Amino acid sequence: EKGGYRHFMLKEIEEQPKALKDTMTSRLLEDQDQVILDQIKLGKKELQNINRIFIVACGTAYHAGLVGKYAIERFARIPVETEVASEFRYKKPIVDEHSLVIVVSQSGETADTLAALRLAKEKGARILAITNVIGSTVSREADNVLYTWAGPEIAVASTKAYTTQLICMYMLALHIALELGTISVEFFREIRDALKQTPQMVEEILKHKHDIQKFADHNFNTNSVFFLGRGLDYYTAMEGSLKLKEISYIHSEAYAAGELKHGTIALIEKGTLIIALATQQELYEKLLSNMKEVKARGAHVVAIAQEGHEEVKKVADEVFYIPRINDHVTPVTIIPILQLIAYYIAVARGTDVDKPRNLAKSVTVE
Ligand code: M6R
Repeated sequence: EKGGYRHFMLKEIEEQPKALKDTMTSRLLEDQDQVILDQIKLGKKELQNINRIFIVACGTAYHAGLVGKYAIERFARIPVETEVASEFRYKKPIVDEHSLVIVVSQSGETADTLAALRLAKEKGARILAITNVIGSTVSREADNVLYTWAGPEIAVASTKAYTTQLICMYMLALHIALELGTISVEFFREIRDALKQTPQMVEEILKHKHDIQKFADHNFNTNSVFFLGRGLDYYTAMEGSLKLKEISYIHSEAYAAGELKHGTIALIEKGTLIIALATQQELYEKLLSNMKEVKARGAHVVAIAQEGHEEVKKVADEVFYIPRINDHVTPVTIIPILQLIAYYIAVARGTDVDKPRNLAKSVTVE
């Protein structure tokens, strides 16, 4: 059933190129300047009736929601709030019939997400679910469903569900932006083509998994890891950090790189492992100086950057490169590296990778 793999997690990481393709195939066509969003009616008229968008989810799905906020705000210029489901409900959220509430859940059964969905529905909001499971409670209770065609995800740590959730978020953002006329056809094509390239790029990245394994074999003994990033890279850092702590039991944190010097830098000492994501052109220089700050305090800095960025080699101790791609979609191509780092570190530490302690695949208590 594991298809020759030692763990479901690795199998599912490697299934990502196919999952990404499946999620896009019927929705982003080469020769069409539009997104075909299944049966979802979300045209100009419906959108004009919406003045607020919320994205509500837990864990990894929440991290996909943060990228969704970025994409919708950047492309469609509508303010979006992304909230952890267990917080959303208790904040007396300002939700009404003019709100669109997007719930994201791989399983479609997470108790907090479901409770948030029900609250929003009761207040008259329109509910759009992004889920992986046909017939799940979330899929049945939402007004519309956009499926992530990731296929069954067995490992507790979410991998291919996350990257396909990202694709759904980008497609949704592009769709809304096209309907509202906030992006040009050229921009649409640029992002569409970049998304279409991701399966092949992820495939390329996965070919280098043995370099990542080597890195893990040298670093698995660490007891604390910091993931740094700015902008989109910060959201990817959050997901990378969650993956690592979830399956390797190593303490780790994700930090917005610019916030470090407001307190957390006190924790950096000789040998502290830092994974710095530096893929965003407009923030690149700033990130390099944050890397220098931690390096000066003795940290071991591993950077992830886009091919062609050579200066990063002078600052970091090690660099993993991703193939060049439009900055807006890098979360899809960086995360496989972070998933593999978490995976191989966990394997080296001998943890129960597919069923980490204290966790369940779907959290059905609030
Ligand atoms: O099934 P859901 O997407 O609603 O699950 C949400 C979280 O419980 C889930 O993403 C969790 O954070 C993963 N184990 C992370 O790898």
